[in-house]
Amino acid sequence: MTMVMDDVVGRESRHVLQTYRRQPVTFVRGEGVRLFDADGREYYDLLSGIGVAALGHAHPALARAVSEQVETLIHTSNLFYHPLQGQLAERLANLSGLPRAFFCNSGTEAVEACLKFARRYWYTKGEPRQEFIALDESFHGRTFGSLSVTSDKHYREPFEPLLPSVQFIRTNDVAALKAAASSKTAAIIAEPVLGEGGIRPLTPAFAAAITEVCGKTGALFIADEVQSGVGRTGYPFYFKALGLHPHLVAVGKALGSGVPIGAALVSQDVADTIAFGDHGTTYGGNLLACRAGLVVLDELVGGGLLAHIGRVGKHFEGRLRAIAASRPIVKEIRGAGLMWGLELTRDAGAVVPAGLERGVVVNRTAETVVRLLPPLVITETEIDEALGRLDAALGAVGAVA
Ligand SMILES: Cc1ncc(COP(=O)(O)O)c(C=O)c1O
Repeated sequence: MTMVMDDVVGRESRHVLQTYRRQPVTFVRGEGVRLFDADGREYYDLLSGIGVAALGHAHPALARAVSEQVETLIHTSNLFYHPLQGQLAERLANLSGLPRAFFCNSGTEAVEACLKFARRYWYTKGEPRQEFIALDESFHGRTFGSLSVTSDKHYREPFEPLLPSVQFIRTNDVAALKAAASSKTAAIIAEPVLGEGGIRPLTPAFAAAITEVCGKTGALFIADEVQSGVGRTGYPFYFKALGLHPHLVAVGKALGSGVPIGAALVSQDVADTIAFGDHGTTYGGNLLACRAGLVVLDELVGGGLLAHIGRVGKHFEGRLRAIAASRPIVKEIRGAGLMWGLELTRDAGAVVPAGLERGVVVNRTAETVVRLLPPLVITETEIDEALGRLDAALGAVGAVA
Protein backbone atom coordinates (compact mmCIF):
# COMPACT_ATOMS: atom_id res chain seq x y z
CA MET A 1 0.00 0.00 0.00
CA THR A 2 1.18 3.51 -0.75
CA MET A 3 1.55 6.26 1.88
CA VAL A 4 -1.70 7.86 0.66
CA MET A 5 -3.59 4.56 0.96
CA ASP A 6 -2.13 3.93 4.45
CA ASP A 7 -3.29 7.33 5.59
CA VAL A 8 -6.76 7.10 4.04
CA VAL A 9 -7.43 3.53 5.19
CA GLY A 10 -6.02 4.19 8.67
CA ARG A 11 -8.18 7.25 9.30
CA GLU A 12 -11.32 5.60 7.91
CA SER A 13 -10.80 2.49 9.98
CA ARG A 14 -10.71 4.61 13.13
CA HIS A 15 -13.49 7.07 12.39
CA VAL A 16 -15.85 5.95 9.61
CA LEU A 17 -18.62 3.57 10.63
CA GLN A 18 -17.67 0.29 9.03
CA THR A 19 -20.72 -0.45 6.88
CA TYR A 20 -18.86 -0.73 3.56
CA ARG A 21 -16.24 -3.26 2.53
CA ARG A 22 -14.12 -1.17 0.15
CA GLN A 23 -11.74 -2.20 -2.63
CA PRO A 24 -8.16 -1.08 -1.86
CA VAL A 25 -8.16 1.88 -4.27
CA THR A 26 -8.34 5.62 -3.60
CA PHE A 27 -9.70 7.57 -6.55
CA VAL A 28 -8.77 11.24 -6.62
CA ARG A 29 -9.67 12.45 -10.11
CA GLY A 30 -11.81 11.59 -13.12
CA GLU A 31 -12.03 12.57 -16.77
CA GLY A 32 -14.80 11.23 -18.99
CA VAL A 33 -14.92 7.46 -18.57
CA ARG A 34 -11.54 7.31 -16.83
CA LEU A 35 -10.66 7.47 -13.14
CA PHE A 36 -7.23 8.11 -11.65
CA ASP A 37 -6.02 6.83 -8.29
CA ALA A 38 -3.74 8.51 -5.78
CA ASP A 39 -0.68 7.07 -7.55
CA GLY A 40 -1.80 8.44 -10.92
CA ARG A 41 -2.88 5.03 -12.30
CA GLU A 42 -5.63 5.16 -14.89
CA TYR A 43 -8.78 2.99 -14.82
CA TYR A 44 -11.67 2.66 -17.27
CA ASP A 45 -14.84 3.09 -15.30
CA LEU A 46 -17.51 0.53 -16.24
CA LEU A 47 -19.52 1.21 -13.09
CA SER A 48 -20.07 5.02 -12.89
CA GLY A 49 -20.26 4.97 -9.10
CA ILE A 50 -23.11 2.39 -9.39
CA GLY A 51 -24.94 3.91 -12.32
CA VAL A 52 -24.60 7.53 -11.24
CA ALA A 53 -21.96 9.33 -13.35
CA ALA A 54 -24.14 9.40 -16.47
CA LEU A 55 -22.11 12.18 -18.10
CA GLY A 56 -18.81 10.67 -17.03
CA HIS A 57 -16.39 12.40 -14.69
CA ALA A 58 -15.66 16.13 -14.69
CA HIS A 59 -18.10 16.75 -17.56
CA PRO A 60 -17.42 20.34 -18.71
CA ALA A 61 -21.07 21.49 -19.06
CA LEU A 62 -22.04 19.97 -15.71
CA ALA A 63 -18.96 21.40 -14.00
CA ARG A 64 -19.68 24.87 -15.40
CA ALA A 65 -23.38 24.82 -14.50
CA VAL A 66 -22.84 23.49 -10.98
CA SER A 67 -20.01 25.97 -10.27
CA GLU A 68 -22.12 28.83 -11.55
CA GLN A 69 -25.06 27.69 -9.41
CA VAL A 70 -22.88 27.41 -6.30
CA GLU A 71 -21.70 30.97 -6.91
CA THR A 72 -25.30 32.18 -7.36
CA LEU A 73 -27.57 30.26 -4.95
CA ILE A 74 -27.51 26.66 -3.74
CA HIS A 75 -30.47 26.25 -1.45
CA THR A 76 -33.48 28.07 -0.09
CA SER A 77 -35.75 25.18 1.14
CA ASN A 78 -39.20 24.21 -0.05
CA LEU A 79 -40.79 27.09 1.84
CA PHE A 80 -40.13 29.28 -1.21
CA TYR A 81 -40.24 29.12 -5.00
CA HIS A 82 -37.13 29.01 -7.15
CA PRO A 83 -37.02 28.94 -10.93
CA LEU A 84 -35.49 25.49 -11.56
CA GLN A 85 -37.73 22.93 -9.79
CA GLY A 86 -40.72 23.49 -12.09
CA GLN A 87 -38.45 23.38 -15.14
CA LEU A 88 -36.99 20.02 -14.12
CA ALA A 89 -40.44 18.63 -13.24
CA GLU A 90 -41.75 19.72 -16.65
CA ARG A 91 -38.83 18.07 -18.46
CA LEU A 92 -39.32 14.84 -16.48
CA ALA A 93 -43.04 14.93 -17.28
CA ASN A 94 -42.29 15.22 -21.00
CA LEU A 95 -39.83 12.35 -20.79
CA SER A 96 -41.93 9.98 -18.65
CA GLY A 97 -45.55 10.90 -19.38
CA LEU A 98 -46.21 11.31 -15.64
CA PRO A 99 -47.25 14.91 -15.09
CA ARG A 100 -45.95 15.62 -11.56
CA ALA A 101 -42.71 15.22 -9.64
CA PHE A 102 -41.81 15.15 -5.95
CA PHE A 103 -38.10 15.83 -5.48
CA CYS A 104 -35.91 14.21 -2.85
CA ASN A 105 -32.24 13.33 -2.46
CA SER A 106 -31.72 9.66 -3.34
CA GLY A 107 -33.24 6.60 -4.95
CA THR A 108 -34.27 5.22 -1.58
CA GLU A 109 -36.16 8.39 -0.77
CA ALA A 110 -37.87 8.26 -4.17
CA VAL A 111 -39.06 4.71 -3.45
CA GLU A 112 -40.13 5.73 0.05
CA ALA A 113 -42.18 8.58 -1.41
CA CYS A 114 -43.82 6.23 -3.97
CA LEU A 115 -44.83 3.78 -1.21
CA LYS A 116 -46.28 6.58 0.90
CA PHE A 117 -48.14 8.12 -2.05
CA ALA A 118 -49.64 4.70 -2.87
CA ARG A 119 -50.90 4.35 0.70
CA ARG A 120 -52.18 7.93 0.62
CA TYR A 121 -54.07 7.24 -2.62
CA TRP A 122 -56.06 4.42 -1.03
CA TYR A 123 -56.55 6.31 2.25
CA THR A 124 -57.99 9.28 0.37
CA LYS A 125 -60.31 6.95 -1.53
CA GLY A 126 -61.69 5.74 1.82
CA GLU A 127 -60.42 2.23 1.13
CA PRO A 128 -57.17 2.05 3.09
CA ARG A 129 -55.38 -0.77 1.25
CA GLN A 130 -52.07 -1.69 2.86
CA GLU A 131 -50.68 -4.60 0.87
CA PHE A 132 -47.72 -4.43 -1.48
CA ILE A 133 -46.45 -7.04 -3.92
CA ALA A 134 -42.70 -7.04 -4.61
CA LEU A 135 -40.22 -9.32 -6.37
CA ASP A 136 -37.87 -11.86 -4.80
CA GLU A 137 -34.66 -10.53 -6.37
CA SER A 138 -35.59 -6.88 -5.91
CA PHE A 139 -33.59 -4.07 -4.33
CA HIS A 140 -35.33 -0.81 -3.45
CA GLY A 141 -33.22 0.72 -0.65
CA ARG A 142 -32.40 0.49 3.05
CA THR A 143 -34.91 2.69 4.90
CA PHE A 144 -37.69 0.86 6.73
CA GLY A 145 -40.21 1.34 3.89
CA SER A 146 -37.89 0.61 0.97
CA LEU A 147 -36.29 -2.29 2.87
CA SER A 148 -39.74 -3.75 3.49
CA VAL A 149 -40.17 -4.27 -0.27
CA THR A 150 -36.56 -5.53 -0.68
CA SER A 151 -36.40 -9.29 -0.32
CA ASP A 152 -32.76 -10.06 0.61
CA LYS A 153 -32.86 -11.52 4.10
CA HIS A 154 -29.30 -10.38 4.91
CA TYR A 155 -30.44 -6.77 4.55
CA ARG A 156 -33.76 -7.33 6.33
CA GLU A 157 -33.29 -9.68 9.25
CA PRO A 158 -31.37 -7.48 11.72
CA PHE A 159 -33.99 -4.75 11.38
CA GLU A 160 -37.26 -6.68 11.52
CA PRO A 161 -40.14 -6.19 12.05
CA LEU A 162 -40.55 -4.17 8.86
CA LEU A 163 -43.78 -3.08 7.14
CA PRO A 164 -46.35 -5.87 7.37
CA SER A 165 -48.37 -7.03 4.36
CA VAL A 166 -45.64 -7.33 1.74
CA GLN A 167 -45.85 -10.44 -0.45
CA PHE A 168 -42.79 -11.45 -2.44
CA ILE A 169 -43.16 -13.40 -5.66
CA ARG A 170 -40.62 -14.84 -8.09
CA THR A 171 -39.48 -12.40 -10.76
CA ASN A 172 -41.27 -12.95 -14.08
CA ASP A 173 -43.66 -15.55 -12.56
CA VAL A 174 -46.98 -14.60 -14.14
CA ALA A 175 -49.00 -17.23 -12.25
CA ALA A 176 -47.56 -16.12 -8.90
CA LEU A 177 -48.42 -12.49 -9.64
CA LYS A 178 -51.99 -13.38 -10.54
CA ALA A 179 -52.36 -15.50 -7.41
CA ALA A 180 -50.92 -12.81 -5.11
CA ALA A 181 -52.92 -9.81 -6.35
CA SER A 182 -56.34 -9.01 -4.97
CA SER A 183 -58.67 -6.12 -4.24
CA LYS A 184 -56.55 -5.58 -1.10
CA THR A 185 -53.34 -4.85 -3.05
CA ALA A 186 -52.34 -1.20 -2.71
CA ALA A 187 -49.47 -1.44 -5.21
CA ILE A 188 -47.13 -3.72 -7.10
CA ILE A 189 -43.53 -2.50 -7.08
CA ALA A 190 -40.88 -3.72 -9.53
CA GLU A 191 -37.68 -2.64 -11.22
CA PRO A 192 -38.24 -2.85 -15.01
CA VAL A 193 -34.66 -4.17 -15.14
CA LEU A 194 -33.62 -5.62 -11.79
CA GLY A 195 -30.25 -4.11 -10.98
CA GLU A 196 -28.82 -5.50 -7.74
CA GLY A 197 -30.75 -8.69 -8.53
CA GLY A 198 -28.34 -9.41 -11.40
CA ILE A 199 -29.46 -7.24 -14.37
CA ARG A 200 -32.67 -9.12 -15.12
CA PRO A 201 -35.17 -7.36 -17.41
CA LEU A 202 -38.84 -8.11 -16.76
CA THR A 203 -40.24 -10.28 -19.54
CA PRO A 204 -42.92 -8.82 -21.85
CA ALA A 205 -45.34 -11.52 -20.56
CA PHE A 206 -44.77 -10.44 -16.95
CA ALA A 207 -45.14 -6.76 -17.89
CA ALA A 208 -48.45 -7.57 -19.60
CA ALA A 209 -49.56 -9.46 -16.48
CA ILE A 210 -48.78 -6.41 -14.30
CA THR A 211 -51.02 -4.28 -16.54
CA GLU A 212 -53.77 -6.92 -16.50
CA VAL A 213 -53.66 -7.40 -12.73
CA CYS A 214 -53.64 -3.66 -12.03
CA GLY A 215 -56.62 -3.27 -14.37
CA LYS A 216 -58.56 -6.04 -12.61
CA THR A 217 -57.78 -5.19 -8.97
CA GLY A 218 -57.23 -1.43 -9.14
CA ALA A 219 -53.74 -1.91 -7.66
CA LEU A 220 -51.23 0.82 -8.50
CA PHE A 221 -47.96 0.00 -10.25
CA ILE A 222 -44.71 1.53 -8.97
CA ALA A 223 -41.80 1.31 -11.43
CA ASP A 224 -38.46 1.61 -9.64
CA GLU A 225 -36.29 3.14 -12.38
CA VAL A 226 -33.57 4.31 -9.99
CA GLN A 227 -30.96 2.18 -11.75
CA SER A 228 -32.57 1.55 -15.16
CA GLY A 229 -33.95 5.06 -15.79
CA VAL A 230 -32.71 8.31 -17.33
CA GLY A 231 -31.42 6.73 -20.53
CA ARG A 232 -29.38 3.88 -19.05
CA THR A 233 -31.08 1.22 -21.21
CA GLY A 234 -31.31 3.37 -24.35
CA TYR A 235 -34.90 4.32 -23.42
CA PRO A 236 -35.71 7.34 -21.26
CA PHE A 237 -37.25 4.78 -18.85
CA TYR A 238 -37.36 1.03 -19.43
CA PHE A 239 -41.05 0.78 -18.49
CA LYS A 240 -41.67 2.32 -21.92
CA ALA A 241 -39.85 -0.51 -23.67
CA LEU A 242 -42.09 -2.97 -21.80
CA GLY A 243 -45.30 -1.10 -22.64
CA LEU A 244 -46.01 -0.49 -18.94
CA HIS A 245 -48.05 2.44 -17.61
CA PRO A 246 -46.90 3.03 -14.02
CA HIS A 247 -48.81 5.28 -11.64
CA LEU A 248 -45.58 6.10 -9.80
CA VAL A 249 -41.94 6.04 -10.92
CA ALA A 250 -38.89 6.24 -8.63
CA VAL A 251 -35.88 8.02 -10.17
CA GLY A 252 -32.40 8.73 -8.79
CA LYS A 253 -28.76 7.95 -9.58
CA ALA A 254 -28.11 9.21 -13.16
CA LEU A 255 -30.50 12.15 -12.84
CA GLY A 256 -27.85 14.26 -11.07
CA SER A 257 -24.78 12.56 -12.59
CA GLY A 258 -23.19 12.70 -9.12
CA VAL A 259 -25.10 15.55 -7.50
CA PRO A 260 -27.53 13.82 -5.11
CA ILE A 261 -31.14 13.98 -6.34
CA GLY A 262 -34.13 11.68 -6.45
CA ALA A 263 -37.66 12.07 -7.74
CA ALA A 264 -40.99 10.32 -7.41
CA LEU A 265 -42.93 10.86 -10.65
CA VAL A 266 -46.67 10.75 -10.09
CA SER A 267 -49.74 10.23 -12.30
CA GLN A 268 -52.49 12.80 -12.13
CA ASP A 269 -54.99 10.48 -10.39
CA VAL A 270 -52.49 9.74 -7.61
CA ALA A 271 -51.44 13.42 -7.45
CA ASP A 272 -55.09 14.37 -6.92
CA THR A 273 -55.08 12.45 -3.62
CA ILE A 274 -52.01 14.20 -2.14
CA ALA A 275 -52.47 17.22 0.12
CA PHE A 276 -50.14 19.97 1.37
CA GLY A 277 -47.90 18.65 4.14
CA ASP A 278 -48.31 14.95 3.24
CA HIS A 279 -44.62 14.54 2.52
CA GLY A 280 -41.53 16.73 2.44
CA THR A 281 -37.77 17.09 2.79
CA THR A 282 -35.52 20.05 3.49
CA TYR A 283 -33.08 19.59 0.61
CA GLY A 284 -35.37 18.00 -1.99
CA GLY A 285 -35.17 19.71 -5.38
CA ASN A 286 -32.86 22.52 -4.32
CA LEU A 287 -31.27 24.78 -6.93
CA LEU A 288 -27.99 22.89 -7.11
CA ALA A 289 -29.61 19.47 -7.60
CA CYS A 290 -32.13 20.77 -10.13
CA ARG A 291 -29.43 22.56 -12.09
CA ALA A 292 -27.49 19.30 -12.37
CA GLY A 293 -30.67 17.44 -13.38
CA LEU A 294 -31.38 19.99 -16.10
CA VAL A 295 -27.87 19.59 -17.55
CA VAL A 296 -28.28 15.79 -17.61
CA LEU A 297 -31.66 16.01 -19.37
CA ASP A 298 -30.25 18.63 -21.80
CA GLU A 299 -27.53 16.20 -22.80
CA LEU A 300 -29.89 13.23 -22.91
CA VAL A 301 -32.50 14.77 -25.16
CA GLY A 302 -31.18 17.92 -26.91
CA GLY A 303 -27.55 16.76 -26.83
CA GLY A 304 -28.29 13.45 -28.55
CA LEU A 305 -27.10 11.25 -25.68
CA LEU A 306 -30.15 8.98 -25.89
CA ALA A 307 -29.45 8.21 -29.55
CA HIS A 308 -25.75 7.72 -28.68
CA ILE A 309 -26.66 5.12 -26.01
CA GLY A 310 -28.77 3.21 -28.55
CA ARG A 311 -25.84 3.17 -30.96
CA VAL A 312 -22.94 2.36 -28.65
CA GLY A 313 -25.16 0.01 -26.62
CA LYS A 314 -25.32 -2.31 -29.63
CA HIS A 315 -21.52 -2.19 -29.93
CA PHE A 316 -21.20 -2.93 -26.20
CA GLU A 317 -23.56 -5.90 -26.52
CA GLY A 318 -21.69 -7.24 -29.56
CA ARG A 319 -18.37 -7.12 -27.71
CA LEU A 320 -19.89 -8.80 -24.65
CA ARG A 321 -21.34 -11.59 -26.80
CA ALA A 322 -17.92 -12.17 -28.36
CA ILE A 323 -16.35 -12.35 -24.87
CA ALA A 324 -19.08 -14.73 -23.67
CA ALA A 325 -18.51 -16.99 -26.70
CA SER A 326 -14.78 -17.29 -25.99
CA ARG A 327 -14.82 -17.48 -22.16
CA PRO A 328 -16.44 -20.64 -20.73
CA ILE A 329 -16.69 -18.89 -17.35
CA VAL A 330 -19.46 -16.66 -18.81
CA LYS A 331 -22.82 -18.46 -18.75
CA GLU A 332 -25.15 -15.75 -19.99
CA ILE A 333 -25.30 -12.01 -20.67
CA ARG A 334 -28.37 -9.90 -19.94
CA GLY A 335 -29.28 -6.26 -20.31
CA ALA A 336 -30.06 -3.39 -22.64
CA GLY A 337 -28.39 -0.18 -23.79
CA LEU A 338 -25.51 0.43 -21.35
CA MET A 339 -26.83 -1.75 -18.49
CA TRP A 340 -25.37 -5.25 -18.67
CA GLY A 341 -24.73 -8.25 -16.47
CA LEU A 342 -22.49 -11.23 -17.17
CA GLU A 343 -23.74 -14.29 -15.33
CA LEU A 344 -20.71 -16.43 -14.50
CA THR A 345 -20.52 -20.12 -13.74
CA ARG A 346 -19.10 -19.19 -10.33
CA ASP A 347 -18.94 -16.35 -7.78
CA ALA A 348 -17.98 -13.18 -9.63
CA GLY A 349 -16.14 -11.64 -6.65
CA ALA A 350 -12.64 -12.38 -8.01
CA VAL A 351 -13.32 -10.44 -11.23
CA VAL A 352 -13.39 -7.13 -9.36
CA PRO A 353 -9.77 -7.14 -8.10
CA ALA A 354 -8.61 -8.81 -11.33
CA GLY A 355 -10.22 -5.92 -13.19
CA LEU A 356 -8.65 -3.30 -10.95
CA GLU A 357 -5.23 -4.87 -11.53
CA ARG A 358 -5.81 -4.43 -15.26
CA GLY A 359 -7.21 -0.91 -14.95
CA VAL A 360 -10.96 -1.45 -15.29
CA VAL A 361 -13.66 -0.87 -12.67
CA VAL A 362 -16.53 -3.37 -12.54
CA ASN A 363 -18.79 -4.65 -9.80
CA ARG A 364 -20.19 -7.97 -8.63
CA THR A 365 -23.85 -8.30 -7.78
CA ALA A 366 -26.17 -11.23 -6.98
CA GLU A 367 -23.00 -13.25 -6.25
CA THR A 368 -22.42 -14.64 -9.74
CA VAL A 369 -22.98 -11.53 -11.88
CA VAL A 370 -20.43 -8.99 -13.15
CA ARG A 371 -22.39 -5.75 -13.39
CA LEU A 372 -21.50 -3.14 -16.02
CA LEU A 373 -22.99 0.38 -15.88
CA PRO A 374 -20.53 2.56 -17.82
CA PRO A 375 -20.91 6.33 -18.15
CA LEU A 376 -23.53 6.98 -20.84
CA VAL A 377 -21.03 9.08 -22.82
CA ILE A 378 -18.67 6.14 -23.44
CA THR A 379 -17.47 5.83 -27.07
CA GLU A 380 -16.92 2.71 -29.16
CA THR A 381 -13.13 3.06 -28.89
CA GLU A 382 -13.40 3.36 -25.11
CA ILE A 383 -15.73 0.34 -25.00
CA ASP A 384 -13.13 -1.71 -26.92
CA GLU A 385 -10.35 -0.71 -24.54
CA ALA A 386 -12.39 -1.22 -21.34
CA LEU A 387 -13.91 -4.54 -22.41
CA GLY A 388 -10.48 -5.72 -23.58
CA ARG A 389 -9.27 -5.19 -20.02
CA LEU A 390 -12.36 -6.94 -18.61
CA ASP A 391 -11.81 -9.85 -21.00
CA ALA A 392 -8.24 -10.22 -19.69
CA ALA A 393 -9.55 -10.18 -16.11
CA LEU A 394 -12.11 -12.88 -16.94
CA GLY A 395 -9.35 -14.91 -18.58
CA ALA A 396 -7.22 -14.69 -15.43
CA VAL A 397 -10.12 -15.63 -13.15
CA GLY A 398 -11.27 -18.42 -15.47
CA ALA A 399 -7.76 -19.89 -15.57
CA VAL A 400 -7.86 -20.46 -11.80
CA ALA A 401 -9.78 -23.67 -11.11
C1 LIG B 1 -33.48 -0.11 -8.23
C2 LIG B 1 -32.95 0.66 -7.06
N1 LIG B 1 -33.81 1.28 -6.24
C3 LIG B 1 -33.38 2.00 -5.19
C4 LIG B 1 -32.04 2.13 -4.91
C5 LIG B 1 -31.58 2.96 -3.75
O1 LIG B 1 -31.00 4.12 -4.24
P1 LIG B 1 -29.98 4.98 -3.36
O2 LIG B 1 -28.87 4.08 -2.96
O3 LIG B 1 -29.57 6.11 -4.24
O4 LIG B 1 -30.74 5.50 -2.19
C6 LIG B 1 -31.12 1.49 -5.73
C7 LIG B 1 -29.67 1.57 -5.43
O5 LIG B 1 -28.87 0.83 -5.90
C8 LIG B 1 -31.57 0.75 -6.83
O6 LIG B 1 -30.73 0.12 -7.66
